Amino acid sequence: MEKLEVKGLNHHFGFTEILRDINFTLEKGQVLSVVGPSGGGKTTLLHLCADLLDVEEGSVKNSFISSSFAFQEGRLLPWKNVIDNISLGLLAKGWDKSVAIKMSQDIALKFGLEEEDFDKFPKDLSGGMKQRVSFARALVVKPSLLFLDEPFSALDIGLKQELQTILIDMIDKKEISILFITHDLMEAIRLSDKILLLEADPGHIVKEFDYIVPQCQRDDKFVYEETAKILQDETIINTFELQLMGAK
Ligand SMILES: Nc1ncnc2c1ncn2[C@@H]1O[C@H](COP(=O)(O)OP(=O)(O)O)[C@@H](O)[C@H]1O
Ligand SMILES: [Mg+2]
Repeated sequence: MEKLEVKGLNHHFGFTEILRDINFTLEKGQVLSVVGPSGGGKTTLLHLCADLLDVEEGSVKNSFISSSFAFQEGRLLPWKNVIDNISLGLLAKGWDKSVAIKMSQDIALKFGLEEEDFDKFPKDLSGGMKQRVSFARALVVKPSLLFLDEPFSALDIGLKQELQTILIDMIDKKEISILFITHDLMEAIRLSDKILLLEADPGHIVKEFDYIVPQCQRDDKFVYEETAKILQDETIINTFELQLMGAK
């Protein structure tokens, strides 16, 4: 069975302790979110899990057959056009160039890019278009495990919902497992089977929340109600240092 298993993970940058004793397992088909404040070590944790950073203490075991990463800031290659950026992973896997281009064009259209955008370079794309390309590049390889680092944070509400709908459809069909990093509770509640709450200084998990309603059945009402519920939780209030209205 494919899974990602994190045990006793600690991390330091220099003398600063960033992560302390992180433990969790992400099973196949699961969407697991790590939610916490900015600077709490979320990106560092994701990089350790995705083997983009060396594990110093503890262990990360990843038995998923394939994985891909959508970065917080897109990270497109500036000298490659839209289709060439999307097809990078396919070519690296040895796909025939003409097949890779066709697959990239198909997914680009699915992600709301237009034919006239195909030859454009990143400098000529809006932030939203770059994010579409970045998402398409991560998904075109049909990864078994997807690492997502705040992929929706720079998006307007319409595009955010559009990309989330595509993901929810894949989650529903059990096509993908996701390790999802965000500071946005509502986003996490919409997409996750399990949320791990990461408190900062150093980053450590203080609580977990499970959601069993299938993602495709979660409407706005569900998300608002569950968010309101979770915001009553003292651990959440402390973790995000929320200043609730009327609180003294
Ligand atoms: N390469 C690095 N070298 C030194 N410090 C880093 C490095 N990357 C991140 N940090 C520090 O680690 C802490 C956690 O950062 P990060 O994992 O990016 O948090 P988050 O994604 O939750 O905002 C921050 O204080 C950040 O400044
Ligand atoms: Mg981050």
